This record gives sequence, structure tokens and C-alpha cells, in this order.
Amino acid sequence: MKLRKVKVILYRVEAKTKETLFSFFDTAYRFVSAYGEPPSAVPEFKDAGIQESPPGISGASGTGETGTGKFRSLEEISEKVKACKNCGLHAGRKNAVPGAGAEQAFVLIIGEGPGAEEDLRGEPFVGRSGQLLDKMLEAISLSRLSNVYIANVVKCRPPGNRDPLPAESAACSEFLKAQIDLIKPKAILVLGRIAAQNLLATKEGINRLRGRFFDYKGIPLMPTYHPSALLRDENLKRPAWEDLKLFREKLRSLEPEYERKFAEGKLKRNSAGGKHIPGAGN
Ligand code: URA
Ligand code: SF4
Repeated sequence: MKLRKVKVILYRVEAKTKETLFSFFDTAYRFVSAYGEPPSAVPEFKDAGIQESPPGISGASGTGETGTGKFRSLEEISEKVKACKNCGLHAGRKNAVPGAGAEQAFVLIIGEGPGAEEDLRGEPFVGRSGQLLDKMLEAISLSRLSNVYIANVVKCRPPGNRDPLPAESAACSEFLKAQIDLIKPKAILVLGRIAAQNLLATKEGINRLRGRFFDYKGIPLMPTYHPSALLRDENLKRPAWEDLKLFREKLRSLEPEYERKFAEGKLKRNSAGGKHIPGAGN
């Protein structure tokens, strides 16, 4: 048998086995811990066996299993996402939500997963929290029309907006990793606990992760509150703004001209009647 074929088969088997093992231990852990006897080895197994090594916290980089090698363009990723049945979430979707924004984005925004409105329209962050997100981004000279790409950890809507299961996030991670590899953003802003814990492979809460920079394969990554949390709790708006100002400082240090370019791109868009000019202000 051809070596390439064997590798492909083993790769698939290994991924499936990992997933099965993961689900088994995850269930067992939750079952046992309900009786107050958490086996300490299990959470460790979960992190090491399924997710990539934490890029920021441990400093280790990814396994390189997936990424640009598998997909040549964002377009190709979107097509694959729309046809994907790698996890149970495909069954309930009206539309998959691969992501949207500028191809050569300066900044990548990562959310948790599509909600009802996003599922209907096939676009990320178009509901209430999306409108707030757009305002937050505008305040620091960022927009999906010019210098930002927006993606989610899972591309299909979890039923009833529940948190994505670890196995679902793991099944979907090849798409997000490939998006990061292709876009090569200069910085990443992560929205909310679920996405932050997923990307940093940690169980640390959002209150401890927010407003700090981590290293994601050489890219500065900062978690902050999810805009839907800000809609639920007004008191989080001030600390979220502090985070955004910190993020803006980082962007200024990476690209001192970014705000001027953003303002120029916006002028051009406005004079074109508010239409999106592909590539404007990138
Ligand atoms: N919340 C998210 O995390 N992502 C979306 O796309 C919409 C709402
Ligand atoms: Fe595929 Fe991701 Fe949708 Fe699951 S959530 S079916 S892995 S695209």
C-alpha cells in the first residue's frame, strides 16, 4: 500500500481514537467527580490528548497537523465548512458560519460560535452582540469592512446557544487553525471564556485571562469579555473598555499608522456610498 495512503488513514484513525478517548474520559470524569472523587489524571489527559499544547501558557507551539497545508484560501475553508459533518452540530444548522471580513486582516477576532441570527444568515456576529461588537471595534479603529476578520471556535450553532462541547470544538479546530495560518493576523482578540479557554488550552476563568497578552504561535493574543456578557451586565463595560484600550496600544506598537489607514479607508467607503470596497484600508 502507498505510504501516503497509510499516513492518511492513520491520521484519521488517530484523530477519531483521540476523540473517542476524550469523550470517554470526559464523561467518566464528570460522573466520578459528582461523587466527590475526581481522578486527578483525567483533566491532564484531556488537554494533552485532544487540544494542542497551550501556545501561550506553556510556550509550546502547535503540532502542525493542520493549517495552511490543507487549505489554499479562506474561500476553500468556507466551502469545506459549509459541507462539513465532522461533529453533531451539523445536524441542527440552517447555515454554517465560516467567518467574514478582510482577507489580509490586521486583526483576527475569535468568538465562541454562531447564535440564532448568525445561523439564519450564515455570517458571524450579526445579532445584538454583533452590533455591540462592531461599535467596540469602531472605537479602536477596527472594522470587518477593512482590517478585521471575524471567526468562531465552532462554525455551526450549538442548540439553544449552549456552550460547544470540547469534542465539538476539537472537531472544528482544524478550520480555525487554518484561518489563522492563512490570515496571519498581527494580533488576535478573543471574546469570552469559552473561546479563550479553547485557544489557550486552559481552565482559567475569563476574569483572570482578560486584559492580558498571550503568545499564540508568535501572535499576541488578548482575551476580553464577550459582548453578550456586556449586554447582560453593564458593570463589565468599563473593564472591557480598559481591555480594548490596552489592545489598541498593542496595535499602535505593531503598526503606528493603522488608525490613519483606517480613517482613510472609511472616507473612501463613505464616498462610495457606504459600499464595501474589497481591500480598502487593509
Ligand atoms: N456569539 C459568538 O460567539 N459568535 C457569533 O458569531 C455570534 C454570537
Ligand atoms: Fe463541522 Fe465545525 Fe460544523 Fe462541527 S461545528 S459540523 S466540525 S463545521
